[in-house]
Amino acid sequence: MEANENKGFSQSYIDLHCHLVANVDDGAASEEETKRMLDLAERDGIKTIVATPHVFSSHCSEKDPRKIFEAVGKLVDACSKSGSPVAVLPGAEVFFTSNLSDYLTEYRDFLTLNRSSYFLLEFPFDFIFHGATDFIYRVMMEGLIPIIAHAERNRIIQRNPRLVYEMVQMGALCQVNAASFTGYFGEMEEDLARLLLRNNLVHVIASDAHSAGDRRPELSAVIEQLSKEGFSHAAVFACDVPLAIINDEGVPDTGSPEDPVRHKRFFDFFLDKFK
Ligand SMILES: [Fe+2]
Repeated sequence: MEANENKGFSQSYIDLHCHLVANVDDGAASEEETKRMLDLAERDGIKTIVATPHVFSSHCSEKDPRKIFEAVGKLVDACSKSGSPVAVLPGAEVFFTSNLSDYLTEYRDFLTLNRSSYFLLEFPFDFIFHGATDFIYRVMMEGLIPIIAHAERNRIIQRNPRLVYEMVQMGALCQVNAASFTGYFGEMEEDLARLLLRNNLVHVIASDAHSAGDRRPELSAVIEQLSKEGFSHAAVFACDVPLAIINDEGVPDTGSPEDPVRHKRFFDFFLDKFK
């Protein structure tokens, strides 16, 4: 049985990572674009979006985090009051900085996803700070659960996918962009997205939409494609797991994490034998 059966929301996607808020980062460029993104999401079967603007990142056009939180709150309220068919919940994509622990204490309700224990943690694309795993350990001791944003796009993880396994073993979760499975971000990203999925290292598939253009809020085509490829439970990553996160519950079991490097080495050895 699919994990999302009999809960009455089968195929009602929850987009956990979306740059929907206008004029605060490199996402929606206007309130009009926010509306178009909401329309596209509704047409795709997305019933809930967590608005996750960049915070503490060079991608923020608005540098004062409190103004970003205010803009998120305004959009959440406006969608709620207007009876928007797509519910919008508050959140953020939190860039890793040396004083992030302090920020998480000061702004916890604004940096977490729908004021849960979960937060979306963004690393730079080209490196991972020394001490990142220590940081994950420390915040987990504070009762917070980091979700590594688009892990497949990080150059260091592309070279050493075992890093994701180590972070997941510590209790972190991993989010992959839907468009990575289509090759939109490149071959390395596509290969790594599938490698992580095969090794039970993906927990959330989200759009990371930035506009109503190329990077739009859509999930259905990728979930359907993955289901056809044999990942029959793919909808869990865009329905059940995000639902548990926004409800601040433990996430459903999506399989035991496997070390992707160990498996790759075994497979390489196997192939070499038959060359
Ligand atoms: Fe993002």
